[in-house]
Amino acid sequence: MQASIENILKKAEKKLTEIIEDAKNLVQFSEKDIQVLEQRKEILQSWADELVDDFYNTLLNYPKTKRIFEKSVPVEVVKEKFKNWYLELVGGKVDEKFYRRQFFVGLVHIYWGIENDVMIFMANHLKRAFLNKALEVFEPEEAVYVFQAFSKVVDFVIAITVEGYLFTLYQGLLDVAGLRPALVERMMKMKLEEMYKAFKENFIYF
Ligand code: HEM
Repeated sequence: MQASIENILKKAEKKLTEIIEDAKNLVQFSEKDIQVLEQRKEILQSWADELVDDFYNTLLNYPKTKRIFEKSVPVEVVKEKFKNWYLELVGGKVDEKFYRRQFFVGLVHIYWGIENDVMIFMANHLKRAFLNKALEVFEPEEAVYVFQAFSKVVDFVIAITVEGYLFTLYQGLLDVAGLRPALVERMMKMKLEEMYKAFKENFIYF
Protein backbone atom coordinates (compact mmCIF):
# COMPACT_ATOMS: atom_id res chain seq x y z
CA MET A 1 0.00 0.00 0.00
CA GLN A 2 1.21 3.53 -0.82
CA ALA A 3 2.53 5.36 2.29
CA SER A 4 0.21 8.36 1.80
CA ILE A 5 -2.87 6.12 1.59
CA GLU A 6 -1.76 4.23 4.69
CA ASN A 7 -1.48 7.56 6.48
CA ILE A 8 -4.98 8.62 5.33
CA LEU A 9 -6.45 5.33 6.62
CA LYS A 10 -4.79 5.89 10.01
CA LYS A 11 -6.22 9.41 10.19
CA ALA A 12 -9.67 8.07 9.23
CA GLU A 13 -9.45 5.64 12.13
CA LYS A 14 -8.63 8.47 14.52
CA LYS A 15 -11.46 10.63 13.15
CA LEU A 16 -13.93 7.78 13.58
CA THR A 17 -12.92 7.28 17.23
CA GLU A 18 -13.40 11.01 17.84
CA ILE A 19 -16.90 10.98 16.36
CA ILE A 20 -17.91 7.97 18.48
CA GLU A 21 -16.67 9.85 21.58
CA ASP A 22 -18.56 13.02 20.53
CA ALA A 23 -21.80 11.06 20.11
CA LYS A 24 -21.41 9.35 23.49
CA ASN A 25 -20.80 12.64 25.28
CA LEU A 26 -23.12 14.98 23.44
CA VAL A 27 -26.23 12.86 22.77
CA GLN A 28 -25.60 10.01 25.21
CA PHE A 29 -25.45 7.62 22.29
CA SER A 30 -25.01 4.12 23.69
CA GLU A 31 -25.61 0.41 23.21
CA LYS A 32 -29.05 0.99 24.69
CA ASP A 33 -30.19 2.93 21.60
CA ILE A 34 -29.21 0.01 19.43
CA GLN A 35 -31.02 -2.42 21.75
CA VAL A 36 -34.22 -0.30 21.76
CA LEU A 37 -34.35 -0.78 17.99
CA GLU A 38 -33.25 -4.42 18.02
CA GLN A 39 -35.94 -5.37 20.55
CA ARG A 40 -38.56 -4.22 18.03
CA LYS A 41 -36.74 -5.30 14.90
CA GLU A 42 -39.56 -7.44 13.43
CA ILE A 43 -41.89 -4.42 13.35
CA LEU A 44 -39.23 -1.90 12.30
CA GLN A 45 -37.87 -4.13 9.55
CA SER A 46 -41.39 -4.67 8.19
CA TRP A 47 -41.45 -0.91 7.33
CA ALA A 48 -38.35 -1.17 5.14
CA ASP A 49 -40.01 -1.29 1.70
CA GLU A 50 -42.39 1.55 2.47
CA LEU A 51 -39.65 3.80 3.88
CA VAL A 52 -37.25 3.00 1.06
CA ASP A 53 -39.89 3.64 -1.64
CA ASP A 54 -40.80 6.96 -0.05
CA PHE A 55 -37.10 7.94 0.19
CA TYR A 56 -36.36 7.20 -3.46
CA ASN A 57 -39.65 8.62 -4.79
CA THR A 58 -38.65 11.90 -3.17
CA LEU A 59 -35.23 11.81 -4.82
CA LEU A 60 -36.71 10.86 -8.20
CA ASN A 61 -39.31 13.65 -8.03
CA TYR A 62 -36.64 16.35 -7.78
CA PRO A 63 -34.71 16.86 -11.07
CA LYS A 64 -31.45 17.75 -9.30
CA THR A 65 -31.33 14.48 -7.35
CA LYS A 66 -32.92 12.40 -10.14
CA ARG A 67 -29.99 13.36 -12.43
CA ILE A 68 -27.55 11.72 -10.00
CA PHE A 69 -28.99 8.28 -10.74
CA GLU A 70 -28.83 8.90 -14.49
CA LYS A 71 -25.06 9.41 -14.30
CA SER A 72 -24.23 6.92 -11.53
CA VAL A 73 -25.79 3.63 -10.46
CA PRO A 74 -29.35 2.53 -11.43
CA VAL A 75 -31.83 3.50 -8.76
CA GLU A 76 -33.01 -0.11 -8.26
CA VAL A 77 -29.47 -1.15 -7.30
CA VAL A 78 -29.03 1.77 -4.89
CA LYS A 79 -32.46 1.10 -3.35
CA GLU A 80 -31.44 -2.45 -2.50
CA LYS A 81 -28.22 -1.24 -0.84
CA PHE A 82 -30.11 1.40 1.12
CA LYS A 83 -32.68 -1.16 2.23
CA ASN A 84 -29.95 -3.45 3.55
CA TRP A 85 -28.43 -0.51 5.39
CA TYR A 86 -31.81 0.21 7.08
CA LEU A 87 -32.33 -3.46 7.96
CA GLU A 88 -28.91 -3.59 9.61
CA LEU A 89 -29.46 -0.32 11.43
CA VAL A 90 -32.71 -1.37 13.09
CA GLY A 91 -31.56 -4.98 13.40
CA GLY A 92 -28.95 -4.29 16.08
CA LYS A 93 -26.01 -4.67 13.73
CA VAL A 94 -24.53 -1.32 14.68
CA ASP A 95 -20.97 -2.26 15.66
CA GLU A 96 -17.38 -1.33 14.80
CA LYS A 97 -17.79 -2.88 11.35
CA PHE A 98 -20.93 -0.84 10.73
CA TYR A 99 -19.21 2.41 11.85
CA ARG A 100 -16.31 1.81 9.51
CA ARG A 101 -18.65 1.17 6.61
CA GLN A 102 -20.26 4.57 7.14
CA PHE A 103 -16.95 6.22 6.32
CA PHE A 104 -17.04 4.35 3.07
CA VAL A 105 -20.68 5.41 2.54
CA GLY A 106 -19.54 9.04 2.87
CA LEU A 107 -16.86 8.42 0.26
CA VAL A 108 -19.35 6.88 -2.15
CA HIS A 109 -21.54 10.00 -1.97
CA ILE A 110 -18.58 12.36 -2.48
CA TYR A 111 -17.58 10.34 -5.51
CA TRP A 112 -21.01 10.93 -7.07
CA GLY A 113 -21.06 14.62 -6.08
CA ILE A 114 -23.97 14.35 -3.62
CA GLU A 115 -23.80 17.35 -1.35
CA ASN A 116 -24.01 17.30 2.42
CA ASP A 117 -27.14 19.45 2.56
CA VAL A 118 -28.94 16.88 0.40
CA MET A 119 -27.74 14.10 2.73
CA ILE A 120 -28.91 16.01 5.81
CA PHE A 121 -32.32 16.86 4.35
CA MET A 122 -32.85 13.28 3.27
CA ALA A 123 -31.90 12.03 6.73
CA ASN A 124 -34.52 14.38 8.09
CA HIS A 125 -37.03 13.04 5.55
CA LEU A 126 -36.29 9.47 6.60
CA LYS A 127 -36.58 10.26 10.30
CA ARG A 128 -39.95 12.00 9.90
CA ALA A 129 -41.32 9.12 7.82
CA PHE A 130 -40.10 6.74 10.53
CA LEU A 131 -41.79 8.83 13.25
CA ASN A 132 -45.09 8.76 11.34
CA LYS A 133 -44.91 4.97 11.15
CA ALA A 134 -44.00 4.75 14.84
CA LEU A 135 -46.97 6.90 15.81
CA GLU A 136 -49.26 4.67 13.75
CA VAL A 137 -48.02 1.46 15.35
CA PHE A 138 -46.95 2.23 18.94
CA GLU A 139 -48.49 4.11 21.84
CA PRO A 140 -47.31 7.76 21.70
CA GLU A 141 -44.80 7.38 24.54
CA GLU A 142 -43.21 4.30 23.02
CA ALA A 143 -43.25 5.89 19.54
CA VAL A 144 -41.21 8.85 20.81
CA TYR A 145 -38.85 6.51 22.70
CA VAL A 146 -38.17 4.40 19.61
CA PHE A 147 -37.92 7.47 17.40
CA GLN A 148 -35.29 9.02 19.68
CA ALA A 149 -33.11 5.93 19.43
CA PHE A 150 -33.53 5.82 15.64
CA SER A 151 -32.84 9.54 15.36
CA LYS A 152 -29.59 9.23 17.32
CA VAL A 153 -28.32 6.36 15.21
CA VAL A 154 -29.25 8.07 11.92
CA ASP A 155 -27.64 11.34 13.06
CA PHE A 156 -24.58 9.40 14.07
CA VAL A 157 -24.36 7.94 10.58
CA ILE A 158 -24.90 11.36 8.99
CA ALA A 159 -22.23 12.88 11.25
CA ILE A 160 -19.80 10.24 10.04
CA THR A 161 -20.85 10.82 6.45
CA VAL A 162 -20.49 14.61 6.69
CA GLU A 163 -17.16 14.40 8.55
CA GLY A 164 -16.04 11.69 6.15
CA TYR A 165 -16.94 14.03 3.28
CA LEU A 166 -14.82 16.87 4.65
CA PHE A 167 -12.08 14.46 5.67
CA THR A 168 -11.69 12.82 2.27
CA LEU A 169 -11.89 16.12 0.39
CA TYR A 170 -9.26 17.70 2.63
CA GLN A 171 -6.93 14.71 2.80
CA GLY A 172 -7.38 14.08 -0.91
CA LEU A 173 -6.46 17.69 -1.73
CA LEU A 174 -3.39 17.65 0.52
CA ASP A 175 -2.26 14.42 -1.05
CA VAL A 176 -2.86 15.44 -4.66
CA ALA A 177 -1.11 18.78 -4.17
CA GLY A 178 1.67 17.25 -2.04
CA LEU A 179 1.14 19.89 0.67
CA ARG A 180 2.23 19.74 4.31
CA PRO A 181 -0.83 19.72 6.66
CA ALA A 182 0.69 22.18 9.19
CA LEU A 183 1.45 24.72 6.46
CA VAL A 184 -2.02 24.39 4.92
CA GLU A 185 -3.62 24.84 8.35
CA ARG A 186 -1.73 28.10 8.88
CA MET A 187 -2.64 29.35 5.40
CA MET A 188 -6.28 28.32 5.89
CA LYS A 189 -6.45 30.21 9.17
CA MET A 190 -5.30 33.38 7.41
CA LYS A 191 -7.78 32.83 4.58
CA LEU A 192 -10.60 32.25 7.07
CA GLU A 193 -9.85 35.53 8.83
CA GLU A 194 -10.04 37.30 5.46
CA MET A 195 -13.31 35.55 4.60
CA TYR A 196 -14.80 36.20 8.03
CA LYS A 197 -14.13 39.95 7.55
CA ALA A 198 -15.50 39.97 3.98
CA PHE A 199 -18.70 38.15 5.02
CA LYS A 200 -19.19 40.43 7.99
CA GLU A 201 -18.82 43.54 5.87
CA ASN A 202 -20.52 42.49 2.64
CA PHE A 203 -22.75 39.48 3.15
CA ILE A 204 -24.80 39.76 6.31
CA TYR A 205 -27.28 42.51 7.20
CA PHE A 206 -28.25 43.78 10.62
C1 HEM B 1 -29.81 9.76 4.60
C2 HEM B 1 -29.10 9.86 3.49
C3 HEM B 1 -28.47 8.69 2.79
C4 HEM B 1 -28.04 7.50 3.29
C5 HEM B 1 -28.04 7.05 4.73
C6 HEM B 1 -27.51 6.73 2.17
C7 HEM B 1 -26.99 5.47 2.29
C8 HEM B 1 -26.40 4.78 1.26
C9 HEM B 1 -25.78 3.49 1.39
C10 HEM B 1 -25.71 2.67 2.67
C11 HEM B 1 -25.25 3.15 0.18
C12 HEM B 1 -24.50 1.88 -0.17
C13 HEM B 1 -23.02 2.10 -0.04
C14 HEM B 1 -22.24 0.85 -0.31
O1 HEM B 1 -21.97 0.55 -1.48
O2 HEM B 1 -21.93 0.15 0.66
C15 HEM B 1 -25.57 4.23 -0.72
C16 HEM B 1 -25.22 4.25 -2.05
C17 HEM B 1 -25.60 5.24 -2.91
N1 HEM B 1 -26.34 6.35 -2.64
FE1 HEM B 1 -27.00 6.91 -0.81
N2 HEM B 1 -27.67 7.45 1.03
C18 HEM B 1 -28.25 8.65 1.36
C19 HEM B 1 -28.57 9.64 0.49
C20 HEM B 1 -28.40 9.59 -0.87
C21 HEM B 1 -28.84 10.60 -1.78
C22 HEM B 1 -29.54 11.88 -1.35
C23 HEM B 1 -28.51 10.17 -3.03
C24 HEM B 1 -28.73 10.81 -4.37
C25 HEM B 1 -29.28 11.97 -4.58
C26 HEM B 1 -27.83 8.92 -2.89
C27 HEM B 1 -27.28 8.18 -3.92
C28 HEM B 1 -26.54 7.05 -3.79
C29 HEM B 1 -25.86 6.36 -4.88
C30 HEM B 1 -25.82 6.81 -6.33
C31 HEM B 1 -25.28 5.21 -4.33
C32 HEM B 1 -24.55 4.09 -5.07
C33 HEM B 1 -23.11 4.27 -5.13
C34 HEM B 1 -22.35 3.12 -5.73
O3 HEM B 1 -22.74 1.95 -5.63
O4 HEM B 1 -21.32 3.45 -6.30
N3 HEM B 1 -27.80 8.59 -1.57
N4 HEM B 1 -26.27 5.20 -0.04
